[in-house]
Amino acid sequence: MDRLKSRVVVVTGASSGIGAECARSLAQEGAHVVMSARRSDRLADLHDEIAFAGHGETTVVAADITRPGDREHLVNETMSRFGRIDGLVNNAGYGQPGPVEIVPIERVRQNFETNVFSLIALTQLVIPIMRTQGSGRIINIGSVAGKIARPYSSIYDATKHALEAISDGMRCELAPFGITVSLIRPGIVTTNFLSVSRDSYRETNGDYSLYPGFLSTVEREYADILYIAGSPESIAQKIVRALISKHPSARYAAPGHAHLLLALEWLLPDRLMEALIRRFGQPPGKAKSKKDEVS
Ligand SMILES: NC(=O)c1ccc[n+]([C@@H]2O[C@H](COP(=O)([O-])OP(=O)(O)OC[C@H]3O[C@@H](n4cnc5c(N)ncnc54)[C@H](OP(=O)(O)O)[C@@H]3O)[C@@H](O)[C@H]2O)c1
Repeated sequence: MDRLKSRVVVVTGASSGIGAECARSLAQEGAHVVMSARRSDRLADLHDEIAFAGHGETTVVAADITRPGDREHLVNETMSRFGRIDGLVNNAGYGQPGPVEIVPIERVRQNFETNVFSLIALTQLVIPIMRTQGSGRIINIGSVAGKIARPYSSIYDATKHALEAISDGMRCELAPFGITVSLIRPGIVTTNFLSVSRDSYRETNGDYSLYPGFLSTVEREYADILYIAGSPESIAQKIVRALISKHPSARYAAPGHAHLLLALEWLLPDRLMEALIRRFGQPPGKAKSKKDEVS
């Protein structure tokens, strides 16, 4: 394939899920992938897996995206090894679920710190490099939740709404320098995302019993909607396309249900859309899938 031969692409959140699958796909396309996340053991395993399969070269740089020193280390390491950055995939992120009334404000800040402020700060370090090169591609991993906010998820959904604005603004600002910006809008994808979300609500001490709809939804890991979940590969394909297309789109969505939800959001009046969304906040009925754990 080699459609990204010798391109240097930094992927954040590469230790699992969408980021890991993205790293595999980019390596197969001939890119040199700089994989970053906090869990260096997971990154090392992925590095070995890709090398063993003969699917390309990767470099591991462990970093907590919320730490300024780690962000600088990631960029400096990449530049000292390769002298350029052709692509930045801003993928690291998580969801802090819970009713707005109950989620502790420091948890709200932390979710914005990871998903929005750190993404902006890392991008600020990479833009001057791409501008000097006269080229570069920035891919932000947003979400369908960046257009459609749901009950008990509006903190996370607000972080993804912010990425819609940041991506649109940057796209116009950076076009004169030969830098493109694309936003990927995944729907529901089978990764560790939901179990990380569940852990992050359990770590708080709020009185969630006031919102029984939330508890039944989060504890059952949305079992009744997981049957529509797509694969991380479907998202990785869109990321590859945004990196190789001559004229990358402003937005990509996947899997299929993401297109449907976005179309409904565009077509339906608020009242009808809200009725549809409220289903997420009700105690679930009979699960349509036997899946009870997200891998
Ligand atoms: N799965 C879905 O249904 C879905 C839908 C829409 C959008 N998304 C978005 O897709 C992206 C990837 O999520 P995923 O589904 O693949 O979930 P995941 O499997 O939980 O992966 C999240 C990744 O983010 C990294 N990360 C989290 N906090 C970090 C930090 N402070 N510093 C560095 N890395 C950090 C994690 O690595 P470490 O823990 O090792 O640091 C992990 O590699 C996220 O931005 C998410 O919002 C997911």
